[in-house]
Amino acid sequence: MNEEIERLKKSRNAVILAHNYCRAEVQDAADFTGDSLELARRATQVDADVIVFCGVYFMAETAAILNPEKTVLIPDPTAGCPMADMITGEQLRELKAKHPGAKAVCYVNSTAEVKAECDICVTSGNAERVMAKFAPDDEIIFVPDQHLGSHIMGLLGRKYILWPGYCPTHAALTAKSIADARAAHPGAPVMVHPECAHDVRDAADERLSTGGMCKFARESSAKEIVVGTEVGILHRLRQENPEKTFYPVNDRLVCPNMKKTTLENLAEALREMKTRVTVPEDIATRARRAIEAMLAIA
Ligand code: 13P
Ligand code: SF4
Repeated sequence: MNEEIERLKKSRNAVILAHNYCRAEVQDAADFTGDSLELARRATQVDADVIVFCGVYFMAETAAILNPEKTVLIPDPTAGCPMADMITGEQLRELKAKHPGAKAVCYVNSTAEVKAECDICVTSGNAERVMAKFAPDDEIIFVPDQHLGSHIMGLLGRKYILWPGYCPTHAALTAKSIADARAAHPGAPVMVHPECAHDVRDAADERLSTGGMCKFARESSAKEIVVGTEVGILHRLRQENPEKTFYPVNDRLVCPNMKKTTLENLAEALREMKTRVTVPEDIATRARRAIEAMLAIA
């Protein structure tokens, strides 16, 4: 399967991008693995004709918005992000109508239609830096993740109008599970994703994007680290830090959509050039503004 993917990749002049939560064998087949911000950045630097995006739909959509002249393929188009689908463009327009003059900000885990309604978007890797650019008296709507929004409110001492979206995968982590992991691995720092609930974030030592977790693991002197996020990231953490030990807070913390890409459907995507991700031009133009505004800051 790997040989076929390599051969097809060359004949199609394709590049494979994968998120840190993908299956280990998919990460190994990819040219680049990263978090949402790193993948969005990398998508602007590709000179291949085809980008095969292994991850969830909004990530492939972001790559397509940034590369209208390239072919962006997603191996399984049903790989959605439930959080991204918790707000529609129409719902955001209604919220904006209730708060005329407010700036609208979306987490990159959102549909192109929602991005098109926003002034700027953020990822978990740059949200603090991007949000710090707003003036103290700006009224701000933040969608869809209430947890990332409240995390940044706490860091910057601000109040935003939050949408009650959340990640169903990270919702399975509890403060009790963090306390249990600490008791099982005394002295090991605990890192969690900012999509976790407030009490879980408070119980942890570090609140980091998946890229931030990879950096922390490289730079920390700790020999054992507790990981509070989707278990797919353990592959990369272990591969890059063979001398360190990583313990998941919960080894059943799996995002089913991130696991939909397999070597089989990745090969099929290249073989049959499917499924192409496209965004209507009027939506893409407005969504691109929000993504590029973010990339220009961070
Ligand atoms: P990162 O940008 O931190 O990789 O997060 C993406 C995501 O979907 C987390 O659930
Ligand atoms: Fe969406 Fe959560 Fe899966 Fe990330 S882990 S893609 S936020 S459902």
